[in-house]
Amino acid sequence: MLSRVLSYFSKKNLVGLDIGSGAIKLVQFNQTKRGYLLQKFGVLPIDPELIVDGAVMDASQVVSAIRELFAQQSVRTKNVALSVSGHSVIVKKISLPLMTEEELQESIKWEAEQFIPFDINDVNIDFHILPTPDAQREEGQMPVLLVAVKKDKLTEYMNLVIEAGLNPVIGDVDSFALENTYLLNYDVNGGETVALVNIGASVMNISILKGGVFSFTRDISTGGKQYNEALQREVDLSFDQAERAKRAEAIEGVDTHQVNDIIQRLNSELVAEVLRSFDYFKTTSPNETIDRILISGGSSKLPELMTLISERIEIPTERVNPFSRVEIPPDQFDMDMINEMAPQAAVAVGLALRRPGDRWYE
Ligand SMILES: Nc1ncnc2c1ncn2[C@@H]1O[C@H](COP(=O)(O)OP(=O)(O)OP(=O)(O)O)[C@@H](O)[C@H]1O
Ligand SMILES: [Mg+2]
Repeated sequence: MLSRVLSYFSKKNLVGLDIGSGAIKLVQFNQTKRGYLLQKFGVLPIDPELIVDGAVMDASQVVSAIRELFAQQSVRTKNVALSVSGHSVIVKKISLPLMTEEELQESIKWEAEQFIPFDINDVNIDFHILPTPDAQREEGQMPVLLVAVKKDKLTEYMNLVIEAGLNPVIGDVDSFALENTYLLNYDVNGGETVALVNIGASVMNISILKGGVFSFTRDISTGGKQYNEALQREVDLSFDQAERAKRAEAIEGVDTHQVNDIIQRLNSELVAEVLRSFDYFKTTSPNETIDRILISGGSSKLPELMTLISERIEIPTERVNPFSRVEIPPDQFDMDMINEMAPQAAVAVGLALRRPGDRWYE
């Protein structure tokens, strides 16, 4: 669907462009015989008013920011893979009667209708038939990953890219981009269940994979901006001061204890959200246990958040390194910048792995 709809362009090279509500990120790879070589990587924070709860409030400023980032990184490639997330995206694992890919292609719209809370004509739909366990096959059923993305949301994001003078060639979903980043950088252990938790500015994407295969995903409307809002409201800080306070910088005339209390309270609420999603996952997959949590996103850098997640959830927790299997030419990149910004690159890396003509889930 998304990528099929958008894959008019045949040039091989493309840029992964993650238009987040906190920052715009771009990643470009050069695919060599040895693997992926990092060609471009840039992060440009944007004004918090430009994209609010996933809605683009000031398109022309977002377009300027995209142009600025491309110019800053001297990117000449015009083909772009972009992604959307949040309320306008539905990703579900459903069970359907056994049929071939071609048969499902014919009937997916009709089959999908009951699972999608939007008018079926307002969404782009795609599917992927997942590996079918024997027990399910014997019952004449198969698991299917169903994806629906609101057309207006996709059009809105595509238009930003077009207005910036670029060609949107792939439309993806944040959680799939994150899965691809994981699959590039980590060895998949057949029996292992891994939770990917990406904590951005307004959205937290949680995806659970078993043996590298999709099991569950959910986007939750929470993230780093809530910390800014609380600090602005309760300590009377500006957005920029709140941004500095979140990085454990002392702000003149501001009680550090009060700031820390607020950050810790919000950290607790965020961990409770993660736990709620894990509990929900367990109700849908009662025999599964999560073995490992991999965290990404700019807000994973919040003081003590990672420690709190591993303590409260009691599952080994580590930060994703989206470049762990990417060659980075040290003469072209500042490694301190890469290490600092890597948590924010997770979605853009997954997008940069796409090739024109790909389906969204391969
Ligand atoms: N060192 C840091 N400490 C705390 N928070 C940080 C740090 N660096 C970045 N952040 C926060 O990370 C968020 C941006 O992260 P990211 O780029 O992953 O989000 P986004 O993709 O723009 O947002 P979304 O996908 O939710 O729209 C912002 O809220 C920012 O304040
Ligand atoms: Mg994001």
